[in-house]
Amino acid sequence: MKLKNYKPILTDDGSQTLFSERYQEACHSTHGASEETRLHYIQGCSVPDFIRSHQAINILEVGFGTGIGLKETLHATEGLGQVFYLSFEIDPELVEYSLKGFDWKHTNLFNNSSDYLIEIPNAQIIILIGDARSRITDLKENLTQKFDVIYQDAFSPRRNADLWTKQWFEQLALVSQPHVKMSTYSASSSIRKAMLAAGWSLKAGEKFGPKRTSTRADLSGHSDDEIIDRLKRSPAITLDDNNYQEYMNEKNSYK
Ligand SMILES: C[S@@+](CC[C@H](N)C(=O)[O-])C[C@H]1O[C@@H](n2cnc3c(N)ncnc32)[C@H](O)[C@@H]1O
Repeated sequence: MKLKNYKPILTDDGSQTLFSERYQEACHSTHGASEETRLHYIQGCSVPDFIRSHQAINILEVGFGTGIGLKETLHATEGLGQVFYLSFEIDPELVEYSLKGFDWKHTNLFNNSSDYLIEIPNAQIIILIGDARSRITDLKENLTQKFDVIYQDAFSPRRNADLWTKQWFEQLALVSQPHVKMSTYSASSSIRKAMLAAGWSLKAGEKFGPKRTSTRADLSGHSDDEIIDRLKRSPAITLDDNNYQEYMNEKNSYK
């Protein structure tokens, strides 16, 4: 299958990512797609520790993309317990393409829908096709158990600001367990302010490639003092549903 509007890129750790023409951005750091995924999501959300102590884990991924998040998760949790993995993805062709990289048969979840339900030993995987901002509403109505972990892996705020707003992070809080861990590669002040305004506490995450830091968030802890001090001094706006379009226009008007 040939994928339109994406170009494959070989990253420094030998894994492949895709460059999206629509968003003008690669799905991962070119310094290593798999390594970045393991650092920010698998370790960043303490996935192996959680599943070891609970024998089960509910994971929400924002942006299925190439499927590397899922692949690395299945690898890291193998033999440790039951995984429920739910991912949002706006591009159905990308999902069809990425699923070919797995050696299982998938079945459609509903006859009249393009969503996927994949059942394999020790994991149930659901991919909801469409705009995550509306699909999260269906999810809230049908969810029997809230999420332990969130991989917040949209494209960058500059390109995909709709998935970095205060209102988006409020929606994520509503589908989360009180002990949830959310992780992302971004350390932008505007997204951190949006998370804080939505009730999340913030911690600095690990560096990867040229990026000096990243963000971990939860609903039960305290924010790092240093992050709060920096945000107080920062002129960056708090991203919200009323200003994200203007934010993207401004960020992309000069390069
Ligand atoms: C950085 S990539 C995700 C990479 C992915 N986690 C992986 O392991 O390959 C971001 C993804 O978010 C998707 N996306 C962007 N806006 C979206 C939206 N409003 N709703 C659902 N998915 C969206 C993009 O199509 C893209 O596949």
